[in-house]
Amino acid sequence: MSSDKKFCQTNKCLMVILVALIAAIAIVCVVTFTDEDAREKANKKAALKWWQTSIVYQIYPRSFQDSDGDGTGDLRGIRSRLGYVSSLGVGAVWLSPFYKSPMRDFGYDVQNYTEVDPLFGNMTDFESLMQEAKSKKLRVILDFVPNHTSNESYWFYESERGNPKYKDYYIWSDGLTCPSGCTDTGGRQPPNNWLSVFGGSAWKWNGIRNKFYYHAFLDSQPDLNLRNENVQKELEEVLRFWLRKGVDGFRADALKFMFEAKNVSQDEVGLRDTFTWYETDNHNLTTNLPDVYDILKNWRGVLEEFANDKFLIAESYGISNEVRNQYYDHGSIPFNFALIQYLNKSCNALCVKSVIKNSLADLSPSYWPNFVIGNHDNSRVANRFGVEMIDAFNMLLLTLPGTPTSYYGEEIGMRDTFYSYKETKDPAGLNFNETLYQDHTRDPERSPMQWNDILNAGFSNGTPWLHVNKNYKLINVKTEQLAKQSHLNVYTQLAKLRQNSAFTYNDLTFVDVDGNPEQILSYIRTQGAAKYLVVLNFGHSYANDVDLSDSVGSDRGRIVVNAMSGYLPNTTISLKQITLSRGQGLVVQVL
Ligand code: NOJ
Ligand code: MG
Repeated sequence: MSSDKKFCQTNKCLMVILVALIAAIAIVCVVTFTDEDAREKANKKAALKWWQTSIVYQIYPRSFQDSDGDGTGDLRGIRSRLGYVSSLGVGAVWLSPFYKSPMRDFGYDVQNYTEVDPLFGNMTDFESLMQEAKSKKLRVILDFVPNHTSNESYWFYESERGNPKYKDYYIWSDGLTCPSGCTDTGGRQPPNNWLSVFGGSAWKWNGIRNKFYYHAFLDSQPDLNLRNENVQKELEEVLRFWLRKGVDGFRADALKFMFEAKNVSQDEVGLRDTFTWYETDNHNLTTNLPDVYDILKNWRGVLEEFANDKFLIAESYGISNEVRNQYYDHGSIPFNFALIQYLNKSCNALCVKSVIKNSLADLSPSYWPNFVIGNHDNSRVANRFGVEMIDAFNMLLLTLPGTPTSYYGEEIGMRDTFYSYKETKDPAGLNFNETLYQDHTRDPERSPMQWNDILNAGFSNGTPWLHVNKNYKLINVKTEQLAKQSHLNVYTQLAKLRQNSAFTYNDLTFVDVDGNPEQILSYIRTQGAAKYLVVLNFGHSYANDVDLSDSVGSDRGRIVVNAMSGYLPNTTISLKQITLSRGQGLVVQVL
């Protein structure tokens, strides 16, 4: 064969090439499709933002860990405990306010939004905390309090002095002529009957400006005038300030109070005694005004200047579904407080089921769900539902769809702590007399974190600002870490399990519990081949021989997490005969 012979001139050779070509195309197709499958899966995973796969852990800085012995928790203390936080399997911490504040409402009265209160440390401490959090892959969410500042803020000082730049930063009114008396208020009375959440008129006379100012909360928390564009810009700058420090998002405080009717000459109709009825009365002129939506949209814009995965969760209790949807549509996630607001001790499985159903009903697929079971404003789970329900509620929270938020100490089953009237610090309690304060004080759920069984439960070497719960020798992190079966143990197992996409992607399917619907709540979370069955006894008694096999379509399952029940992890059980006491729960992989 001469070296200049043309390449492949015979039919045979052409056939060989054709076959080879077809084979190559087939191989490429197979590889591409397999790859595509994998890519689709990967994309689906990548499409979820970090806050869709994370548990948020709320830290109340005063009560988490004191590092300098002054009895109040601080940023260095929090930093030193991030190892523990990350060991829980949570993905983000939300820090309640640590900004400069006279602490009338323990930090929710902000004097300077961009300064760290010396009680909590300084900016370097915050930066180190951020660094440590990042190194542990923990996201950091800050509390943002845009509705009001402290009356000791620079803005308020300048506003009461009538400085032209600041005079409209707050909501001022001349009020009305007082028919008689009113000597302390320049012969004037408030312009209307609007009430403060913490009791009494929402208007406070200011003798420097000779006007009343409006405060939805304490009179030391004057409401900002959000209709003032400069105020809006200032607040946006506050967001940028912290975003530049690398924070991952915000929890926005008291959003339904952001706007009030412009015309202050109107009374709200049908208001009863504010102390008892604030939340149940209709405050149509002072809450849920739609103007807040544009503000939310602007904040989302600010967040997007930094990244498209920043988190913004909004606090507004008792909002309608229409309002909820607007929050979503304008770039935020409204906290879903249903488990706090609509459940109580007498609630059984049917009642828990209906609350979950309602929370998820007409939630369009683009609205990401969330659940929260406790926070610094509400009694702890052990007290609201009974100590036997601690694991069941952690299991519920961590196996529901959407983003769960846990309050510090719930993972070890901390209890509310009793404080006498004399010991009480919370202004919401001190607004009442000794007989009534316990219905309103939030100190019990703010007692120091219980780390171990030595001095002050390891919280502080000094005298804690609120004393530690007397039960700390039994209920504390160290003891629960060493115990074979503990609330902490159940919590961390659930947090780990939650990383499985069955718990992040798919809808929840309730399982029919024939015969025991009042006792047993059961649902399935599934993804691909993995099918997890959650079974919880929310009834008020023992549930014997519960048969879920028909509804589940299988007779057997493998115990994955066992909350205080007699079943052993990893054992195979019959789904025809499940027995659980009140408060016991199981996550079972369906076989
Ligand atoms: C809601 C906060 O959670 C609460 O602690 C505070 O007292 C009020 N907003 C006022 O800021
Ligand atoms: Mg307001």
